[in-house]
Parts: sequence; C-alpha cells; structure tokens
Amino acid sequence: MYDIPDQHDRLAVVTGSNSGTGKEATRRLAGAGAQVIMAVRALAKGEWARQEILSQFPDAHLDVRRLDVADLSSVKAFAEALLSEKRPLDLLVNNAGVMAPPQRLVSVDGFELQLATNFLGPFALTLRLLPLLLAAKAPRVATMSSSVAAIGSIRYQNLQRDRHYVPYFAYAQSKLADLLFAQQLARVANQRGWDLMSNAAHPGFTRTNLLAAGASLGRGRKRPDWVTRVMFLASQGVEPGTEPLLYAATSPDALSGAYYGPDRLFGLVGPTTLVRVPRSARHENDATRLWNVAEELTGVTLEKI
Ligand SMILES: NC(=O)c1ccc[n+]([C@@H]2O[C@H](COP(=O)([O-])OP(=O)(O)OC[C@H]3O[C@@H](n4cnc5c(N)ncnc54)[C@H](OP(=O)(O)O)[C@@H]3O)[C@@H](O)[C@H]2O)c1
Repeated sequence: MYDIPDQHDRLAVVTGSNSGTGKEATRRLAGAGAQVIMAVRALAKGEWARQEILSQFPDAHLDVRRLDVADLSSVKAFAEALLSEKRPLDLLVNNAGVMAPPQRLVSVDGFELQLATNFLGPFALTLRLLPLLLAAKAPRVATMSSSVAAIGSIRYQNLQRDRHYVPYFAYAQSKLADLLFAQQLARVANQRGWDLMSNAAHPGFTRTNLLAAGASLGRGRKRPDWVTRVMFLASQGVEPGTEPLLYAATSPDALSGAYYGPDRLFGLVGPTTLVRVPRSARHENDATRLWNVAEELTGVTLEKI
C-alpha cells in the first residue's frame, strides 16, 4: 500500500469527498495529518462521511463545505469564502465527477452536465483558488481523469453534445479534457516559474457509487448476474483504487504533468504506476485550445486572477 508522507500543516481541498475515491482520499490525507476541506454538494452527506472518518481518526481536522462543481456560482462562492480566509492552500484534489447519464442533462449554467461537473467546474475552481495555492510552499493540484479518456475526443463543433448525445462518449470527452487541463496547468506553472505541481490520475475500475449508479444514475434495469460477477473480478476496492490519486497528490516522487493509474489487467486494477498519456492528450496546441474555450465558457481566466 502506498504510504502517504506526513501531511501535518498542510491544507487540502477534496471535491466530492463524501463518497468513493474522494472520501477515501480525505480519510488517508486526514490520517496523515492534513487539514481537509471536504467540498460536497450535499452537506448532510458530507457530514456523514466526516463522522465516519472521525470514528477512525478522532483528531482529524475536517471541515465540510458546500460546493456544487457543476454550478459556476457555487464554485465562485466557495472560492471567495476561502480567499477571504487567506490561508495558503497546499493541495487541491479535483475528484468529483458524474458518469454517463442516459439522457443528456444540462447544468444550471446551460452546459452538458458531464462537461460542467467533470471539467468546466474544476477548471474554474482551480483558477479561482490559484492565489491561495501559489501562496503555499509546494502546492499541488491532482485531477481525476479516467482510462476512458483514451477513447474520448474534444468535439468543438458539438462540445455540449446537443446533437447525437452518446453518454459514454460525452463522459470520455470530459475526462480527456481533465487530462489536457492537468498537463496544461503544469506547463503554465513551468512557463510562469510557479512552484506548482499539477498532475492527473485514474482509478482503473474501482467499486464506488459511480459504478453502482452506472449509466442509469441509479435508475433503470438491473444488471444480469454474470455482468456483476465479471465486473467484480475486473475491479478493485476503493482503497487501492484511490492510490493513484493519492500518489499524484502527495508523493515526493510524482512528476508535474504526469499521469498515474493502476498497472495490471489493462490498467483496471493493481498498484500505482506512471501511465502513458493517450495520444489525444499529448499535444500542447490541443490543451491550449481547450483552455481558451474553458476560459470563454466559464468567464474565469488566468489574467483575471
Ligand atoms: N470508479 C471508477 O471506476 C472510476 C473510473 C474512472 C474515473 N473515475 C472518476 O473518479 C472520480 C470519483 O468518482 P467515484 O468513482 O468515487 O464515484 P462516486 O462514489 O459516485 O463519487 C463521486 C463524487 O462526486 C460528487 N459529485 C458529483 N457531482 C458533483 C457536483 N456537481 N458537485 C460536487 N460534487 C459532485 C458525488 O457527490 P454525491 O454523492 O452528492 O453524488 C460524489 O461525492 C470521478 O471523477 C470519476 O469520473 C472513477
């Protein structure tokens, strides 16, 4: 198991920290001494998760705050509250995500829901929190992507997938966007001489609520038993599944701009390793183009920070 270095005196924000890999990352970071702001869309769920973690680590410093990453006004309010407190932020973990709603859903800002939740919200959040990150000693941003990013493409002519919505392709697009963003943030940091590490991770195939809800978001037909059995055998528990993200977020050996994931069974399970970035996420021009579009859509730009 990956051993997290001591995190005392470090402040972290983890999005989607009430469930799955976000809750596990929070538990492990808090166990290593970090103060963690649990950024969740439902405060009650955040509080349950907080209590669960406190039952294991009674001295953990956990602060539950409301953040709906799919809502740009919520992102702004969350970031402004933190900025007003002026505490340097050591770590931002962009973990929250939704996968493949069967019908195309739209965020309050009018964006396709997966693009909004998985990419545009985290993009705006990261940029808004940059002043606090840059005030910290060795700040890091770890962003959760997915191995399905490899089959994704950024369709600028149909970014919001309002024509021909295919749930998994829209999901793959949003996760490819995460990977392009994490690497571009590393380049921007390098170009500007910031001591900020930005990298990405994926959890392989990890048994969380994302999979329980699956493509039906909890509604619809039950899976056949054989599918459930195969899924179980080719997947891993949340502890190992969170390790690539924790490695990206905390390892002294992790590299900026790198991508981490499990190394066995085609990357579905296993110990953390450095993962090859899919071809579609390798080019700086593509990442810059996407960054510019994200700035335009969110109204949050580097220059305004
Ligand atoms: N599990 C896998 O095999 C797998 C594979 C590849 C990538 N991932 C990625 O891993 C990340 C974590 O997912 P998970 O597997 O841990 O699933 P999960 O258990 O469903 O956790 C997802 C978390 O994101 C939160 N969330 C969703 N929409 C949000 C919003 N608008 N604002 C704030 N929080 C929101 C959820 O909150 P609620 O509880 O309120 O819904 C939940 O806390 C996601 O980015 C996902 O794409 C997972």
